[in-house]
Formats: sequence, C-alpha cells, structure tokens
Amino acid sequence: MRIIRAKDYEDMSRKAAAVLAAQVTVKPDCVLGLATGSTPIGTYDCLAQWCKEGVLDFSRVSTVNLDEYRGLDHENDQSYYYFMNKNLFSRINIDPAHTHVPNGMEPDPEKESKRYEELIRSLGGIDIQLLGIGHDGHIGFNEPNSFFDKYTHCVDLTEMTIEANKRFFASADEVPRQAYTMGIGTIMHARKLLMIVSGEDKADIAAAAFCGEVKPEVPASIIQFHPDVTIIGDEAALSKIPE
Ligand code: PGA
Repeated sequence: MRIIRAKDYEDMSRKAAAVLAAQVTVKPDCVLGLATGSTPIGTYDCLAQWCKEGVLDFSRVSTVNLDEYRGLDHENDQSYYYFMNKNLFSRINIDPAHTHVPNGMEPDPEKESKRYEELIRSLGGIDIQLLGIGHDGHIGFNEPNSFFDKYTHCVDLTEMTIEANKRFFASADEVPRQAYTMGIGTIMHARKLLMIVSGEDKADIAAAAFCGEVKPEVPASIIQFHPDVTIIGDEAALSKIPE
C-alpha cells in the first residue's frame, strides 16, 4: 500500500489525475473504474483539461462506474450517470458507448447485478479503480456490514449515507433509499486501486480503514489486502496516519 501525501485538495486531485493519465498513456484501450461524490471532481477537472490540451486521448478508453441510485434515470440530475456526463464524459473525447454506469432503472436487482458483472468481465476487467471513502467507511455503496459483499448488488442506504448525500437533493426525503453497487469482490478484482481522500472530517475513517483491523464493519479496510493500492490524501485527511 502506497500512501502519498498531498498538500491540499488541488494537489491531491492533480496527483490522482496523473496516476489515471499514466494508465491511459501506457494502455490506451484500458478500462477505468470511476467514482462519484465531491472528492473526484478536481481529478476529473484535471483530466478534462489535459484532454483539451491534447496531451491525453480517451478515444479507446472504456469506463465502468462503481454505483448508481436505484430508480433514477440518466436524465435525472441527481443520477450518477448525469454526474459523470457533466463532470467528465462530456468534457473528454471518450465514445459515450464506452461509458458504463449501473442501470438504476432496471427493476430486477438480480438481472442488473448479473448484467453489470458480465459487462466488466467482457471488457477484460478493470485496470484501475478510483475510489472515494464515505464517513462510515463505505466504498461504492458497500455500507458497513457483517460480511463483505462479493458481486454487484442492490443495497439499502444507511441513514448516515442518506444524511451525507442529502446536500445534493432538495431534502433528505428525496434521496433514494437504494442503490446498485459493485461488490467488494468486484472492486478487489481490479488490477490496481486508487483511493483519494480529502478533508479533516475524513481523518478518523482514513486511519481506521488504512491502519486499523480489516473488517466488514469498515468496508474500505479490505483494500489493505489488495496487492496494488495507491492512496492519495491531503494533509488534513491523513493527519491521523503516522508518517
Ligand atoms: P464524497 O463521498 O467524495 O462526497 O466525500 C465519498 C463517498 O461517499 O464515497
């Protein structure tokens, strides 16, 4: 596990974008696993900028996203598909047909989970998976649990996640109660993991996840067992992790 200390959010974003850009450069037809939330926005800004400057080419890249709210369609401005399109896909030269997000409108969880797993397999697996971390230690929408979920599945969101995500909605009542998410096994199968973490409010969970016991009650702790993990955090987020 490599832990890279960045000065601040901007520095973290630039460093994370550089790791993703290196992947695209060495393997132009790579599969990027992507994430939503506020943490990766700066990373996506850098990638969009470098693409605009002509130093990065996404024309052969495929992407798969970690998760999507159940019941929200692509046009819904709170859906993760919409987020990805706005923050990244519409700003780079990627083929929209190569961008994949779980289908929140599929009513049958088993069908959607199976489809998404098969899709990832058919693409040859994920070369590098970008991850954020929730205050409760979730990755994707894998919430604290008594076991690690292996595959893509439908989850009930916890009160903590609903509370954290309500800032994007008119009220907490409008936050969907369920989501489709890659499983912990799906994430762990990626060849590389890139975790980004920013802000003092993430310091406790970062210390627990990266230095504490590996347990499903802290889902992100599992990444300690992955053979190729890079964590890039700003000073505030990594303040409780010894040098
Ligand atoms: P955030 O969310 O980037 O908005 O803090 C991270 C997450 O919930 O995975």
